[in-house]
Amino acid sequence: MALAQHAAPVRNPYSALPNWLYPTFVVGALSLFGIFAAWVVFFQPAGRFGPYLSPFDSPLINLGPVPPGIWVAWAPLAFRLTCYYYRKAYFRSFFWHPRSCAVPEPGRGRYRGETAFPWILNNFHRFAFYATFVQVLFLWYDALVAFNFSGHFGVGLGSVLMIANVLLLSGYTFGCHALRHLAGGNLDCFSCSASASARFRLWKGVTVLNIRHDRWAWASLASVAATDIYIRLLMAGLLHDPRWIA
Ligand code: FES
Repeated sequence: MALAQHAAPVRNPYSALPNWLYPTFVVGALSLFGIFAAWVVFFQPAGRFGPYLSPFDSPLINLGPVPPGIWVAWAPLAFRLTCYYYRKAYFRSFFWHPRSCAVPEPGRGRYRGETAFPWILNNFHRFAFYATFVQVLFLWYDALVAFNFSGHFGVGLGSVLMIANVLLLSGYTFGCHALRHLAGGNLDCFSCSASASARFRLWKGVTVLNIRHDRWAWASLASVAATDIYIRLLMAGLLHDPRWIA
């Protein structure tokens, strides 16, 4: 059975928008997030307040004077840079490549696609997925620990933010095209064995998330920034964390 038969058709959510809006949004949002992430990773101490840990610093590795985010930020950075959706978004928006279907592009040298450096590195997306998968497991652990206030169960605004963040990150990570291929690729028959049937069910689950992969991508990007900012505002004493403790 062809894989494409199982994917529900999706209306292009951007078709009603002015042409300039989407690329402008992509350039603005990715630039802002990139500058913010670089500031956090290279110049800030670990984002830690009580049981809360910033997603930029998880898992927390304190080795000498090196900011802890440097040890872990490479994985989600590589994951997002090589993501099939983000590739489309930043190629079109930053490089106008292509600007749109049938729209002439600005002149450029010989096009070699993803067969030469640096874009050939995009072919390592599957390995970035493996690293990010491990990191998401750590983030789930952090989110559960965020309900532990010195040995007492409690719920703070930070706990809610951290659990929302890891849910959104999981929706993004487990909707990855590479995982979809790992689950359902290289199979001629989904019903010929128990393991093939299990892979079919996994493939269907990944496909549900994959259909809205772009939205998971943006929502999780925003939640990572929001969670980190919230924790750093608590650290700076500029916010009070509303919480209930049993
Ligand atoms: S394709 Fe987007 S995360 Fe893998």
